[in-house]
Amino acid sequence: MSSSAPFDQREGEIWYNNQWINWPDAKVHILNHGLHYASSVFEGMRAYNGKIFKLTEHNERFKRSAEILGFEIPYSVQELDDASNAMIERLGITDGYIRPVAWRGSERMKIYAPGITVHTAIAAWEWPAYFSEDLYKTGINMCWAKWKRPAPDTAPTASKAAGLYMICTSSKQQAEADGYHDAMMKDYRGYLAEATGANVFLVIDGELHTPIPDCFLNGITRQTVIRIARDLGLEVHERHIMPEELANADEVFITGTAAEITPVGSIGEYRFTPAQVTHKLRTAYVDLVNGKS
Ligand SMILES: Cc1ncc(COP(=O)(O)O)c(C=O)c1O
Repeated sequence: MSSSAPFDQREGEIWYNNQWINWPDAKVHILNHGLHYASSVFEGMRAYNGKIFKLTEHNERFKRSAEILGFEIPYSVQELDDASNAMIERLGITDGYIRPVAWRGSERMKIYAPGITVHTAIAAWEWPAYFSEDLYKTGINMCWAKWKRPAPDTAPTASKAAGLYMICTSSKQQAEADGYHDAMMKDYRGYLAEATGANVFLVIDGELHTPIPDCFLNGITRQTVIRIARDLGLEVHERHIMPEELANADEVFITGTAAEITPVGSIGEYRFTPAQVTHKLRTAYVDLVNGKS
């Protein structure tokens, strides 16, 4: 079966409630709480050269995301790490993507679901770079999303909860329909927030500026890039950023496990040219994830 086959029809195995299941058999019933009420959290990790980058940090966040939604993933971080490693080994994946997911099951179809079983699965597949190499030179073109990142007292914004992706999916879908690669989201206050699946950095006068993640994910890649930048002697400012400040940015890039470090060529009316700082950070990031630094 080719890797372009639908995701429910591929070959291989999926780790499902601590068992290895034949890939197409890893199913849920249509009546499950996760599907109806969004009691579902997930992770996205990448393997480079057969090693999962920041594996433990991702599984810690996975557990925390569920706790924020009020349920517990019934495996320790160590067990999830072991299962993730076993997953890529069994499938022979060297450069790929690993997707853990956990959700409330089917015992009750009510909003209030005490004692409901939590299910956990991990799937993995070979996955090349998110955007094409050409786009790394020119940068991606982004429009403004019509949806805003909600306030932390409106939604559980620190959780990588499936429900929070509803506005990301519709923003990205609209962006692609309008001929853009992605959409940039503002937050509930009107500050610059993040892309639909990645954090954002601006380069202004050779220094980095990135929004404070107080109503969206503090990405593991974001934290890694901040550390790399400081090690390289770059100033990094975490602060609230008004969208108009994009006019002062020479370079802009987005960061995420999937996006890695992807240069941005435009956001709405603002134009940028991917240059030295983005390339330097990208080189350092690629070296780090491949264990070369
Ligand atoms: C909405 C959103 N923001 C930010 C990120 C970046 O997070 P990370 O770097 O941990 O992958 C992601 C990717 O998972 C995301 O989906």
